[in-house]
Formats: sequence, C-alpha cells, structure tokens
Amino acid sequence: TRVLVLNGPNLGRLGRRQPEIYGTTTHAELAHRCVEWGLERGLAVEVRQTNHEGVMLDWLGEAADERVPVVLNAAAWTHYSYALYDACAQLEAPLVEVHISQPKDRPEEFRHHSVITPHAVSVVAGHGVEGYRMALDVLVEHLGQ
Ligand code: DQA
Repeated sequence: TRVLVLNGPNLGRLGRRQPEIYGTTTHAELAHRCVEWGLERGLAVEVRQTNHEGVMLDWLGEAADERVPVVLNAAAWTHYSYALYDACAQLEAPLVEVHISQPKDRPEEFRHHSVITPHAVSVVAGHGVEGYRMALDVLVEHLGQ
C-alpha cells in the first residue's frame, strides 16, 4: 500500500528549528526513517515537505484522487487553514494527524485548535519524530479493516 507522509511549513528546518521543542532529527533523517518504518509494515511511504499552502493542497487533491492514505503534519496551517480543512474533507482513505510537539500543552492559545482533527481517524502528538512511526501503525490498523 502506498502512503503519503506530508509535512507543512517550517518542518524542512527540523533539526535546526527550535531543537528544544522539535528535537535534533533533520527532515532528511525523518524521511529516511519513515520509509524504513513503512517497509517494515509493507507500506510504500513517500515523504514530502512544503512551505507553500497551494502545493500542499495539490498533494492532498492527489491523495484524494488516488485514494492514498495520508499521515499529515500540517504544522501552523493546522490551526487556521480552512483550505486544508476542505482538502482533508475530500480524502477517502484514512488520514492520521501528527505533531512532533503536543500543541495542546503549549502556551500559545492558537495551537489549541486543529482544523485537521475533524477529518482524522487519529491524532498522534507529543511523541517527537517517533510519532510518525506510531501514525503509520494507526494507519495499518485502519487499512486492515
Ligand atoms: C507542529 C505544531 C504546530 O503548532 C507548529 O506550528 C508546527 C509544528 C508539531 O509538529 O509539533 O510547525 O505541527
């Protein structure tokens, strides 16, 4: 089964970006791990990252058209993008929302709301980059049903 792991804005700077919050693993390392975790689970994982909302919308449209399951870290868009809300509503295969930090435990009020959660079968947050492995496990459970 093909799976798209889609990462939104600023996640390309993982490893250098606020390591006290997001850790020291780079996006390239995360992508490599996701591919390996996928292989261990019989999934063909493709990892993409963009800082451009329209690009992310195109990828979600592709996932909808091709009925591909998605692991999505929409980063800051999570909290306010109704365009992403509408794009996620069109997905047919399961969507798992992931965050490296736990947005609900962070001081900024704007992080406490997600437009992705209504469309997700599950949310994995606060487990660092291991959360992506957990998200793939959740997907496997849902795909088996
Ligand atoms: C994030 C949490 C968001 O609030 C933040 O805007 C991000 C990353 C996370 O993975 O913890 O960019 O999605």
